Amino acid sequence: MYTDVIRELADGKSHSVESLELNESELPRLTAHMVELGIEFQYRRGSLQIVGGLELLDADRMRALMDEEARELLHKIEVHWTIDSTNTYLLKKSQKQACHAEVSIAEQQTQGRGRRGKNWVSPFGKNLYMSIAWNMPTAGASVDGLSLAVGVGVVRGLSACGVEGVQLKWPNDLLVDGSKLGGILIEVSNPKLERVEVIVGIGINLQMPHASGRTIDQNWTDMARVTGTRISRNLVAAKLLDSLLGMLNTFPQMGFRSYRREWQGYDAFKDRAVEIHIGNETVAGIEKGVDDRGALRLQTEMGIRQFVGGEISLRAART
Ligand code: BTN
Repeated sequence: MYTDVIRELADGKSHSVESLELNESELPRLTAHMVELGIEFQYRRGSLQIVGGLELLDADRMRALMDEEARELLHKIEVHWTIDSTNTYLLKKSQKQACHAEVSIAEQQTQGRGRRGKNWVSPFGKNLYMSIAWNMPTAGASVDGLSLAVGVGVVRGLSACGVEGVQLKWPNDLLVDGSKLGGILIEVSNPKLERVEVIVGIGINLQMPHASGRTIDQNWTDMARVTGTRISRNLVAAKLLDSLLGMLNTFPQMGFRSYRREWQGYDAFKDRAVEIHIGNETVAGIEKGVDDRGALRLQTEMGIRQFVGGEISLRAART
């Protein structure tokens, strides 16, 4: 709805309603739609302007910003204006190209999904919602630990955009000073013996609108706050793909083992008192990093215990 008009207005300049080829009755509908999307605009003397402009996602621009090696591992990038969830989209679609990535990226998600069945707040045009489908052989290293390795890949990609100080909370939450900057949701479809289709979903807060931020049920931050600047969304997507495609390609040979030390260097809870929640069970202990499979190591009264699995959550111990 009004996609072409919003694209034209994205330059942040003032456009007369006439030049946008809108009639008088369409104007209230367009402005209501922009309010709904959270787009800040001005209407003055028959002209419309998006305040500060919008950087829309552009697949050609992302490709141009990517390294050549990563480009060679890319099959296609699909940009969606609005979608339920980029992960759900790729899960429904079967990925045929072995060792080539199919990427789905959206301006807005209406049913963005987080870990443990949570909702992922995904307002229009401001943040990054991207999923990568990768058809991976399971021979050699298993996909265990992949979700932690992806966390390392995202930290590296963000660092290439000038975002430093990002830490990881097991298994792969992205934190800055204890507040959530982004998250990773890995899902596996089509599990066959020799190959699996892995969907790597990444959500990064770049410039979270305040109204959307108020609906998030935990401490959050965004790249604009962390860096004090507005970093290009197309650049962030390109640098994450640079970092992640090579990793996905070599993971079956390398396994998590080769990322373990780096992961522990980013560990936000290393040697801190934490609680692990598994359903109704709570286990308290001191966080002792991860093992070669990516299992969390917890020093408890009974000795070291290891934890794996998607339904576990880790929290700082209440003092
Ligand atoms: C988390 O709970 O920390 C994981 C959040 C993952 C969000 C991303 S946004 C792109 C992809 N599509 C989804 O529906 N979820 C992931």
